[in-house]
Amino acid sequence: MSEAAGVDQAGSPTATAAAVASSRVGPAGCFISIEGIDGAGKTSHVDALAERWRGRGHEVVRTREPGGTPLAEVLREQLLSREMDALSEALIVFAARRDHLVQVIEPALARGAVVLCDRFTDATFAYQGAGRGFDLTVLAQLETWVQAGRQPDLTFWFDLPPEVAAERRAAARDPDRFEQQAVDFFARVRAGYRLRAEAEPSRFVRIDAALSRDAVAAQLTAALQLRGW
Ligand code: TYD
Repeated sequence: MSEAAGVDQAGSPTATAAAVASSRVGPAGCFISIEGIDGAGKTSHVDALAERWRGRGHEVVRTREPGGTPLAEVLREQLLSREMDALSEALIVFAARRDHLVQVIEPALARGAVVLCDRFTDATFAYQGAGRGFDLTVLAQLETWVQAGRQPDLTFWFDLPPEVAAERRAAARDPDRFEQQAVDFFARVRAGYRLRAEAEPSRFVRIDAALSRDAVAAQLTAALQLRGW
């Protein structure tokens, strides 16, 4: 469990969410993020994780970033479609994140729900930081202001070579502004995720996302069993 304080509606830290979370067994009151470059194949596995815990009687809040609230979804649409510089990107994702934390994530954790979030702040360090080359110390400052210490309890990093991800994307969908980036952009983003994972090895679980869907699911199950989840 995170020892982080939550964030209340007025913007001041509160320890309630973390206190509730730490009093429960298993994934209840737990914040899990799923990360990786575009084309890593996260989505179907997030759905499966949600079903796994719903089937065991947990409340599951399956959400995403940027997004997860009406305001944050509007910001997402703008981020994915309009040209802008890296600072604007960072401010938009953190504004969306703040609304998402206050409206959805903190209340859900306080209720004891399992929060499954498709991307969180590691994506900002990977995409805006490593990918765009934006100043990591500014991102760290924004992280501190916006999150008041809140971090996921567990992060699944779906890792695969950018060339493989590009093939999957080409087969799957119309690309948005990020998905149109060249392979070397995604190589930098991948390196950014690796740095975050190395800095916090107890939070991150690296999943070899180049393997088959079944093999990826087996890695997730093994990681959860290790935690008794
Ligand atoms: P993604 O979550 O992969 O959704 P979809 O599967 O529908 O394409 O797309 C969101 C994009 O936003 C992705 O390319 C990464 C980008 N992004 C950032 O650049 N910074 C961030 O902080 C976050 C959360 C996402």
